[in-house]
Amino acid sequence: MQYSFGIIKPDAMQKKYYGKILDDIASAGYKLIGLKLFHLTEEKAKNFYAKHENKPFFDELIHYMCLSPVLCFVVQKENAINDFRALVGNTDPKLAEKNTLRAKYGQDLSANAIHASDSEASFDREWRFFFTENELYFQ
Ligand code: CMP
Repeated sequence: MQYSFGIIKPDAMQKKYYGKILDDIASAGYKLIGLKLFHLTEEKAKNFYAKHENKPFFDELIHYMCLSPVLCFVVQKENAINDFRALVGNTDPKLAEKNTLRAKYGQDLSANAIHASDSEASFDREWRFFFTENELYFQ
């Protein structure tokens, strides 16, 4: 069994897509084992996205991620990391395949509705930003 970490981002939160997104994730066979609303501070967002700090979009990304509370979650499924990235789709919602979450709920490269861990190493790092071990229901 594998796990992945995700964030429903400010654009999708403001449009109240969180219910639809969680429903799509459950329908795709994922079990929810952790869920939390969290309003990122600039410092925490910069730390979370540290690997992008030299990218031209970094300031925009940090500003955007702090606009409103986000919904953080951990899901469980076989092959969860790769399968969840496929369900989420291309970073750019305009290039994402039909029926992916970003195609359905995202707007553009910055406001792309959802974040997903890109590797097991990223998952191990990312969930710890938002959860303690006893807040996750591993089975
Ligand atoms: P995410 O999966 O959260 O990881 C890094 C984020 O940076 C990415 O989703 C996008 O929201 C954002 N991003 C990537 N490329 C660009 C870009 N060219 N312009 C603006 N934001 C970007």
